[in-house]
Amino acid sequence: MSKDKILVTGGAGYIGSHACVALCEAGYQPVIFDNFSNSSPKVIDRVEQITKKGISLVEGDVLNFDQIMEVFRQHSIKGIMHFAGCKAVGESVQDPLSYYRINVTGSINVLDAMCHSGVDVLIFSSSATIFGDLNANPISESSTFSPKNPYGQTKRFVEEIMADLVASKANLNLATLRYFNPVGAHQTGLIGEDPKGIPQNLMPYLAQVAAGRLSKLEVFGHDYPTKDGTGIRDYIHVMDVADAHVAALEYLLSEGGYLAINIGTGQGISVLELIHAFERAAGRSIPWDFGPRRDGDVAEYYADPSLAEQKLGWRAKRGIDTICTDMWRWQINNPLGY
Ligand code: WQD
Repeated sequence: MSKDKILVTGGAGYIGSHACVALCEAGYQPVIFDNFSNSSPKVIDRVEQITKKGISLVEGDVLNFDQIMEVFRQHSIKGIMHFAGCKAVGESVQDPLSYYRINVTGSINVLDAMCHSGVDVLIFSSSATIFGDLNANPISESSTFSPKNPYGQTKRFVEEIMADLVASKANLNLATLRYFNPVGAHQTGLIGEDPKGIPQNLMPYLAQVAAGRLSKLEVFGHDYPTKDGTGIRDYIHVMDVADAHVAALEYLLSEGGYLAINIGTGQGISVLELIHAFERAAGRSIPWDFGPRRDGDVAEYYADPSLAEQKLGWRAKRGIDTICTDMWRWQINNPLGY
């Protein structure tokens, strides 16, 4: 017998779709709410193919309160995973108002609809960018917040709104999960990251160079104070991120309260290490060159994952070789995305 229905806003997106798979595997029924502004309806067929379950969809926009309320009219929702939003740092610098409107006002609408519908469990998709560059590694939940771009600010503001809401309504059970660098794809290669246009992030760019869709990778800087001079990040498999959401949901349903948790592996991987791991997975060499540093980049950034393990009993299970193998399978099976 299936467990409860979980509303997944942005459920046709990269992390949302993988969360839907993890929810089905845990016996929940995802209900996807998406406007397909940055995703494809094909994702739903793929999730159904993987899970062998019918996935409910309500098409709509988080900026339209009535459309969100329609979900609660059509379905008896037990909890919410809120992924819908914009997530490109560079774009947020160019168009901050759109980011504040969609990420902050959209989240307020979802929280308001939740309260109007008597639902009391929500998990928010946050980001490690709220920590900025003032902290020593590893980055823990007590590290200083100092977002350096509008995207990170929107995530910080929504976390503050959630904390105020919990303080005002004792019955709410909310969690914010701050991802470091989600990468990779489901092991079937049926769902994965499908960025529009030229990828801004390392992993999808690397995969497209390996597949011959792009000619060469530029390594942004090799004079950082790191083990090999290139940038170090905490790359976490998207299915580990998805599993963390189910663990947080189970925690909220059983223990309740307010959780703010960093979601990473605790391991730092350099750009050069990632290139070599991807070459092993793809069985081919990848053309790359050193270039200048990218504005806004920090040298090194990885999580302290101990609170996630202590509170949720969760830790990342998939290493960088699995990440690259799964990413490569998605890339060759879907050379042009969905
Ligand atoms: C990783 C490393 C680059 C591209 C971003 C967002 C963050 C989060 C994760 C949403 C850095 C280097 C990159 C390239 C390169 N997203 N690089 N050549 O900047 O750590 O984080 O994605 O929450 O909000 O900021 O990820 O993949 O862009 O960069 O050398 O063509 O790869 O300098 O060291 P980042 P990234």
